[in-house]
Amino acid sequence: MKYTIRFGRRLHRTDLAWGAALAVVAGLGLLGVPHASLAADDPASAPTYSEKGADTCLACHGNAKVESIFKTKHGAPGNADAPFGHGQLQCESCHGPGALHASMTLTDGKLSQVIRFTPDSKASVETRNGMCLGCHESSTKHLWAASGHASAGLSCADCHKVHDPADQVLRTGTQAEVCFDCHKTQKANSLKPYAHPIRQGEMACSSCHQPHGSTTKAALKGATVNETCYSCHADLRGPFVWEHAPVAEDCTLCHDQHGSIHPAMLKQRPPFLCQTCHSATGHPSVAYGPSGLPGGAAPSPAVVAGSCTNCHAQVHGSNHPSGRSLTR
Ligand code: HEC
Ligand code: HEC
Ligand code: HEC
Ligand code: HEC
Ligand code: HEC
Ligand code: HEC
Ligand code: HEC
Ligand code: HEC
Ligand code: HEC
Ligand code: HEC
Repeated sequence: MKYTIRFGRRLHRTDLAWGAALAVVAGLGLLGVPHASLAADDPASAPTYSEKGADTCLACHGNAKVESIFKTKHGAPGNADAPFGHGQLQCESCHGPGALHASMTLTDGKLSQVIRFTPDSKASVETRNGMCLGCHESSTKHLWAASGHASAGLSCADCHKVHDPADQVLRTGTQAEVCFDCHKTQKANSLKPYAHPIRQGEMACSSCHQPHGSTTKAALKGATVNETCYSCHADLRGPFVWEHAPVAEDCTLCHDQHGSIHPAMLKQRPPFLCQTCHSATGHPSVAYGPSGLPGGAAPSPAVVAGSCTNCHAQVHGSNHPSGRSLTR
């Protein structure tokens, strides 16, 4: 396949070392035969952009895996802000100045490299991320630098595969696989019987999280845990005439949103869940028999399946005039 790319890069002639540009031509002729040349203090060995941009690179790298970038938003020639838009540096807007590399020039006896994005890259994470942030400070809402992922030394390319038109991390159905590479606990939880429908491909981690960082703990999308939950569970937002204090405070006091072995993703089953806060010696935790007295023969509603919630069904809050005890 042949891509005719307009030669419209922002070309600063003062930057352009013609020696290197000529070497491109020589390099193409002698493909794979690197020639030692240019001394380190030669101005022509300073990093410079290749003269013909993508056309230069594709002369050697023209394969389907690389060229698939033209099927992505980055490859759109009509978008002036994208790497292949008019006046942009094309491949080199991400990979950095590539004239020396393209001319197969040796630097310190080694083939000159462009910026690579693989984990074994010689460029620092800051340099690699800097190439992306130059255009994307605002799409990451300027929160990247302070994010947990930036502090942990992640690079944009740990999650994003920009040459791939189907960048896994951008798709609801495939995103979690990318996250699971590193987040094994959440992977294990998501496989438990009661979980948000992530493994069914109906939700993604980014339904609740902003992986580029946010001002909320655990990089949540909402201003608080509860605001994050209300964006989908709006019916539980309240206000209720009779509130249950922990519900208004933090849903995760009772729920494990990443998945649980208990129905409704509860951290524990009632009555134990309730008794982490309510006295276990209170009225309901004693096994009443049919006579209504402790020690009776038949199991009481307080110890069978739903236990406390058999009576306190409105555990999230009640709007019933006499719902003070959350029973209706
Ligand atoms: C003359 C042929 C030639 C040209 C032109 C050329 N390259 Fe390369 N490139 C190579 C060779 C050979 C390698 C592998 C050598 C190595 O890994 O150091 C390579 C390696 C790379 C790699 C690393 C691949 C990897 O597996 O991580 C990247 C990225 C790259 N080139 C980008 C570019 C870009 C961008 C341009 C245009 C500015 C360009 N190349 C122009 C020959 C070329
Ligand atoms: C020259 C500027 C420029 C550079 C450099 C750049 N991008 Fe982009 N990027 C864009 C533009 C423009 C878009 C398209 C935005 C749109 O159409 O909404 C885009 C889109 C994206 C998207 C969304 C793609 C989609 O399908 O929705 C991702 C993810 C992305 N860039 C990541 C990166 C990463 C990672 C890097 C560094 C390896 C990078 N970008 C480097 C300009 C750039
Ligand atoms: C931990 C994984 C991860 C890392 C690291 C990461 N991203 Fe993303 N990125 C995502 C996910 C997930 C989305 C989709 C967000 C959504 O759907 O709300 C996304 C979306 C984007 C988009 C599309 C616009 C948008 O916000 O929806 C751009 C642009 C982007 N990322 C750029 C970057 C850049 C630049 C870096 C490095 C500074 C980076 N990303 C690092 C996971 C990541
Ligand atoms: C938006 C930034 C961006 C642009 C533009 C870009 N690349 Fe890349 N390139 C990357 C990243 C990031 C990787 C690491 C793998 C990935 O994310 O897909 C990569 C990987 C590569 C590789 C090695 C990986 C492989 O799978 O063989 C080569 C070679 C390469 N790019 C060449 C090019 C060429 C040639 C162009 C111009 C046609 C180009 N790149 C344009 C960001 C970019
Ligand atoms: C390359 C490994 C890696 C990948 C891929 C990755 N993460 Fe992380 N993530 C980390 C590390 C390391 C930390 C910081 C240490 C920790 O808290 O475990 C972290 C922290 C987090 C945090 C806590 C953030 C904070 O500020 O406290 C969240 C939430 C998170 N990641 C979500 C995601 C999501 C969602 C994805 C996929 C879109 C993802 N991660 C992909 C490595 C990764
Ligand atoms: C339904 C919303 C929701 C979804 C979906 C979700 N998370 Fe979370 N996540 C949270 C909340 C809320 C917290 C904060 C818990 C706390 O600290 O109280 C959190 C915390 C985290 C943390 C910090 C460590 C921890 O467990 O407290 C990581 C890492 C994390 N999530 C990763 C992921 C990954 C990976 C996915 C996708 C598989 C994912 N999350 C899906 C809501 C969600
Ligand atoms: C992006 C939308 C979305 C967000 C945000 C969200 N949820 Fe959910 N939640 C769902 C969906 C979808 C289901 C599955 C409903 C079903 O299976 O019928 C669900 C189910 C649940 C269930 C279990 C329901 C059952 O019957 O077993 C609980 C508990 C729950 N969510 C709690 C939370 C909590 C806590 C938060 C905030 C940390 C939250 N959700 C954030 C969409 C969301
Ligand atoms: C005091 C503990 C507690 C808190 C806090 C709590 N829940 Fe629940 N939640 C439960 C119990 C118990 C059930 C199971 C109800 C049942 O079995 O009838 C449940 C069930 C659910 C369900 C399943 C459908 C339903 O309504 O029965 C969803 C969704 C849910 N909770 C979301 C939330 C959200 C969102 C929050 C935060 C606003 C929250 N919960 C806070 C105890 C709690
Ligand atoms: C995280 C702690 C916590 C958990 C877990 C919890 N509660 Fe509560 N609950 C409270 C607090 C705090 C109040 C408010 C007490 C007050 O106002 O005096 C309350 C109030 C109540 C009331 C109303 C009491 C009244 O004022 O009449 C009922 C009924 C109740 N809880 C039942 C339950 C049930 C049933 C469960 C288990 C599904 C449960 N609670 C789990 C903390 C908790
Ligand atoms: C058989 C039905 C039933 C069961 C089961 C039950 N309760 Fe109650 N509970 C009630 C009723 C009715 C009231 C209201 C009593 C009143 O207003 O005097 C109440 C009141 C409460 C109160 C308000 C304070 C108090 O003691 O009066 C709390 C807290 C409470 N229950 C917690 C629990 C917990 C925790 C469980 C499970 C371990 C539970 N209940 C099981 C029926 C039940």
